[in-house]
Amino acid sequence: MNKKIEDLCNRQVEREGYSSNLYLAMASWAENKGYPGIAAWLYAQAEEERIHFLKFIKYINERGGHAVIPAFKQPPVEYKNVQKLFDEVLKHEQFITSSINEIVAATLTEKDFNTNNFLQWFLTEQVEEEASVRTIIDKLKMVGAESLYIFDRDIITLRTPATGQAAG
Ligand code: FEO
Repeated sequence: MNKKIEDLCNRQVEREGYSSNLYLAMASWAENKGYPGIAAWLYAQAEEERIHFLKFIKYINERGGHAVIPAFKQPPVEYKNVQKLFDEVLKHEQFITSSINEIVAATLTEKDFNTNNFLQWFLTEQVEEEASVRTIIDKLKMVGAESLYIFDRDIITLRTPATGQAAG
């Protein structure tokens, strides 16, 4: 495969793998703070990201490139509160969306239509993920601290309709 596209896909390998670790770190924080529901949602999210990570690895190798497994920087250990944590999730997903968009743009200039086709699934996925996190943030704005217990109990039912999976 074209070296420029291979490098961009390898950059995405790192970003998807980091996303998985980031959500694991958030899940661990939530579990420690006594929010098992939020932790379960984040653990499921981490699994989704691991699937994205693997999809990029396998795609690069399938096309004759070499998927490189990188070192990951350590995600933050502490989060201010649940609201701030989900703000961070949205910010991160927006970053991932722009990162995918950059590769899509490169596939057009490099005329790599196979990779363009491969990326279509991710474009759709990112729209769903951002929407799902926005729904959570909207709901969190409506609940006070005392209702956080109920929110925590119910969050796992907030799944993306298209996949039936927790959004990732
Ligand atoms: Fe795989 Fe949520 O970006």
